[in-house]
Amino acid sequence: MEKRKELYSGKAKSVFTTDDDNLMVLSFRDDTSAFDGKKVEQLARKGAVNNQFNAFIMEKLAAAGIPTHFVRRLSSNESLVKRLSMIPVECVVRNIAAGSLCRRLGVEEGLALNPPTFEMFLKNDALGDPMINEYHVRSFGWAEPGQIEQMKVLTFKVNDILKQLFLDGGMLLVDYKLEFGVADGEILLGDEFSPDGCRLWDAETREKMDKDRFRQGLGGVVEAYEQVGQRLGMTFEY
Ligand code: TMP
Ligand code: ASP
Repeated sequence: MEKRKELYSGKAKSVFTTDDDNLMVLSFRDDTSAFDGKKVEQLARKGAVNNQFNAFIMEKLAAAGIPTHFVRRLSSNESLVKRLSMIPVECVVRNIAAGSLCRRLGVEEGLALNPPTFEMFLKNDALGDPMINEYHVRSFGWAEPGQIEQMKVLTFKVNDILKQLFLDGGMLLVDYKLEFGVADGEILLGDEFSPDGCRLWDAETREKMDKDRFRQGLGGVVEAYEQVGQRLGMTFEY
């Protein structure tokens, strides 16, 4: 497999073509962004930590029956993935109220949500990732009704798998965002799963161990991500 040219560079990852049209290289950078790209910093080791964290989680999800784009890890900060046609919709499940839900609905952070709730956001930084519903997705043709249903089912299935995985490591999975794409007519989980795109709290102290440390200027961002990985039994290489 030969890495060729950079196709796209996002806020934290770059995507490269390969000699196989169906495969791409995802390169995880140290760039860390929040507030739709308004706050950006380089955090040493973050790219390597997120790449290895994502590989670990994607393998767990695949083993539990979730179809994903992940093929294999290539190096400390790069992975090989299937090429997807991305659906520009972010699927969010929330087990505990935090972040934008608290701002929008005026509820206190930490409120348990029973059952967990599901939201969709349009992936568009210029618009600040506005919340959308299934009818928007259909009317604008971002996905077919069957695909929306599948994304929702898969996002909740990921919750069942990961809530328990993190709880076994003494952590609460507060909320998370997933992105999906299509390859050969099939919906696959794409993008990444890392502490950049979810909220994780220590189950006892409720200390934040995710990107809220960066958003809120709490410090120790990458150290917290490493701690999350270590609690799941991971060791990182740099
Ligand atoms: P929110 O509280 O800001 O709406 O975010 C909910 C969860 O989804 C949180 O874990 C962060 C994640 N998320 C992203 O990673 N990127 C995004 O663009 C959005 C909207 C949410
Ligand atoms: N919207 C996400 C966040 O605030 C990602 C980003 O804007 O970079 O964390």
